[in-house]
Amino acid sequence: EDPSISPTPPMGFNDWSRFECAINQTLFVETTDAMLSRGFLAAGYNRINIDDCWPAHERLPNGSLTWNETLFPNGLPWLANYVHSKGFHFGIYEDAGNATCGGYPGTLGHEQLDAETFENWGIDYLKLDGCNVFPSTEQRYQDIYGEWHQVLTALQHPLIFSESAPAYFAGTRNNTAWYEVMDWVPLYGELARHSTDIAVYDYYGNDSAKYWDSVMTNYGFEVLLARYQQPGYYNDPDFIIPDWPWLTLDEHKSHFALWASFSAPLIISAWVPGLADDVVEFLTNTDIIAIDQDALTLQATLVSSDENFDVLTKNLANGDRLLTVLNKGDNTNTTSVTAARIGLVGDGPYTAKDLWTGESSAFTSEMKTTLSTHATGIYRISGVNATIPTGMIFNTANKRC
Ligand code: DGJ
Repeated sequence: EDPSISPTPPMGFNDWSRFECAINQTLFVETTDAMLSRGFLAAGYNRINIDDCWPAHERLPNGSLTWNETLFPNGLPWLANYVHSKGFHFGIYEDAGNATCGGYPGTLGHEQLDAETFENWGIDYLKLDGCNVFPSTEQRYQDIYGEWHQVLTALQHPLIFSESAPAYFAGTRNNTAWYEVMDWVPLYGELARHSTDIAVYDYYGNDSAKYWDSVMTNYGFEVLLARYQQPGYYNDPDFIIPDWPWLTLDEHKSHFALWASFSAPLIISAWVPGLADDVVEFLTNTDIIAIDQDALTLQATLVSSDENFDVLTKNLANGDRLLTVLNKGDNTNTTSVTAARIGLVGDGPYTAKDLWTGESSAFTSEMKTTLSTHATGIYRISGVNATIPTGMIFNTANKRC
């Protein structure tokens, strides 16, 4: 398997949201071991990615980046080898500007050398952050990320390229104006961030409402960008954060189901050895992972939204259709989704497999569902003879449709 090709959205681990700069070699070794022993690798989570704060403050005399030896006593090539020996790919983080967000050396002016260094260390994946880029204009980011794209693809062992850039200059850009950005972002990398960071303890503390708000903010931001996803390029709504205690189990499951409906990268930021068994169980739900990793890699589109419910749908590679229903409301609520609303044009009957329970039920003209507060229903609809293609149901004003 060529690790530089990502025909489906990347899945794996990243430390940032859970640990920020409190990282070390032991964390990555124990995480790798737990990702293997707890069934994550078997379920498809095959990447271990380091985020900020790994570099030493100074480059070596020859100009190369090097790791913080206190945090990583055996070195990153050793860690890459360890991660590989357990069956995972290894990813690293750097920054396009003068310094990382955490204040460590950035890559500006060292692109070729740093890419070769990562390749030599056995790195398979680069997340390139966008702090300390001046001027912080779209053009400047496009130039630097374009250069990185060239450097990375020319390597003998090309790296997956995770772009943070759009999140830095896009700001409150409206939906039409995204088109101008998305003419280059998907060409340069395999995934890109557009929205703010998902909940981090340093900013959110113990305020439980903020964690759900953060999930909903990134969901709401990315839902508008469905049309730009394409094979080999995935919109990145940021990490899954499955062991923060400020989300209920239903909220954690919703986060996962919505990201999977998006065919988003599924990068878990958590203390994996300590995850509760019921959390491991839903994160390794093969039916839902199959939605995320579906060969069409479409991002589900929003086909209806009211006070309580969002309804999303997408085509699946085998001709089935996805139905995802999110209860945003503060109470248990019931809704009916008509077959037409999700693009089903035949007379049915259709079979809806509830991907949480594995149970199937039949419906014809409408599908009724009852969901607790902040819960998400996720169904694979089969018996679909013909459908209206995703994208034509809702987004008619876009240049690409
Ligand atoms: C900002 C990014 O969006 C985060 O995911 C993380 O990489 C931090 N920077 C690290 O400083």
